[in-house]
Order: sequence, then structure tokens, then C-alpha cells
Amino acid sequence: MKAIVAVDEHWGIGKGGKLLCPLSADLRRFKTLTLGHPVILGRKTLSTFPGGRPLPGRRNLILSRDPAFQAAGAEIFSDREALLAAAPDDSIVIGGESIYKMLLDVCDTVWVTRIFRTFDADARFPDLDSDPAWTASASEPPLEENGVPFQYVTYLRHLRA
Ligand SMILES: NC(=O)c1ccc[n+]([C@@H]2O[C@H](COP(=O)([O-])OP(=O)(O)OC[C@H]3O[C@@H](n4cnc5c(N)ncnc54)[C@H](OP(=O)(O)O)[C@@H]3O)[C@@H](O)[C@H]2O)c1
Repeated sequence: MKAIVAVDEHWGIGKGGKLLCPLSADLRRFKTLTLGHPVILGRKTLSTFPGGRPLPGRRNLILSRDPAFQAAGAEIFSDREALLAAAPDDSIVIGGESIYKMLLDVCDTVWVTRIFRTFDADARFPDLDSDPAWTASASEPPLEENGVPFQYVTYLRHLRA
């Protein structure tokens, strides 16, 4: 399983339920990487999408503890075990904070967009640079959009010997 996330310099990912710094190039890349794959997300992240609707062209596997929660075209799971029993290996975890933390241990790859700015975040991704289980294996050239510098970095989990 993989995860995809955009983080600031301190692994901040959101504030007040919103992204910190949406970058159109990053959002296009997100679409390219996730189209055709199941995506796994929390109910709060779903609510941030246009109309609160699931992402088109992808199975949307949504976590919610609310037994009454429904979202047309999405599959709802009430706990990690039920989700993992249904999620194919090519699923991509797309957030938010609680779902990244819940599923990082079953991911072998994290596609990180590093945004070289610091924001007043209230949601964070675990710091992969200080976790010896993870290595930044590949980086693409630094980019910039509207004066905001960023870079795509792929983290891989070390295989146990
Ligand atoms: N930078 C990025 O790449 C990125 C990507 C995605 C999201 N974000 C940001 O992340 C923030 C949202 O993160 P969040 O943690 O507040 O919300 P979230 O993870 O999107 O959703 C949380 C909800 O998921 C459900 N849930 C969580 N754990 C569960 C479990 N073990 N079993 C069943 N359901 C479970 C609960 O839904 P119920 O309340 O319905 O029970 C919970 O309220 C926002 O600021 C968003 O913009 C950033």
C-alpha cells in the first residue's frame, strides 16, 4: 500500500480542515498517481472535496465510525480491520491525519510533496526523516509555483532482513 501527502517543513498537512497550501501542479500529480487505484480516506477529508463527493475514477474507501454515514458511490468502513480486509494492495492512502497515522505501518511507499514553507498547522504527518524505518529514496528537481518552492520526494520503508 502507498500513501500520498503534501507537507510543510514541519510535516504539517492541514489547518481548520483545509490544506495548507494547495499547489495546482501537485493536485494534477495527485490525480495522475491515484486515478485507477482505490483511495483510502477519512470522513473529514471527504467533506473537503467539491460537494463532499467521492473522487471520480477511483474506488473511494472511507473510514467513519458513524453507522448512519453514507456517501453515494463510496464504500464505508467502521474500523481498520474491515478496511484492510477489503483494500487491494494497490490502494493509496490519501489522508487525513488520523488515517495516515492509522495506516502508515501497512504502507511501503510514501509520495511526499515537500513544501519549503512553515504554516500554522493543526494536522500533521508523522516525521519520516526521524523514523529509521523510512528513507528518502528519490527526489525530483526543486520546483516553484507562485513563489512557493516545493519538491517531490519518495520515501521507502526499509525491508526487514
Ligand atoms: N496535505 C495533505 O496531503 C492532506 C491530505 C488529506 C487531508 N489533509 C488534511 O488533514 C486534515 C484532516 O485530518 P483529520 O485527521 O482531522 O481527518 P480525517 O483523517 O480525514 O478523518 C477523520 C475521520 O475519519 C474517521 N476515522 C478515523 N479513524 C477511524 C477509525 N479507526 N475507524 C473508523 N473511522 C475512523 C472518523 O470519522 P467519523 O467522525 O465520521 O466517525 C474521523 O472523524 C485536514 O486539514 C485536511 O485538509 C491534508
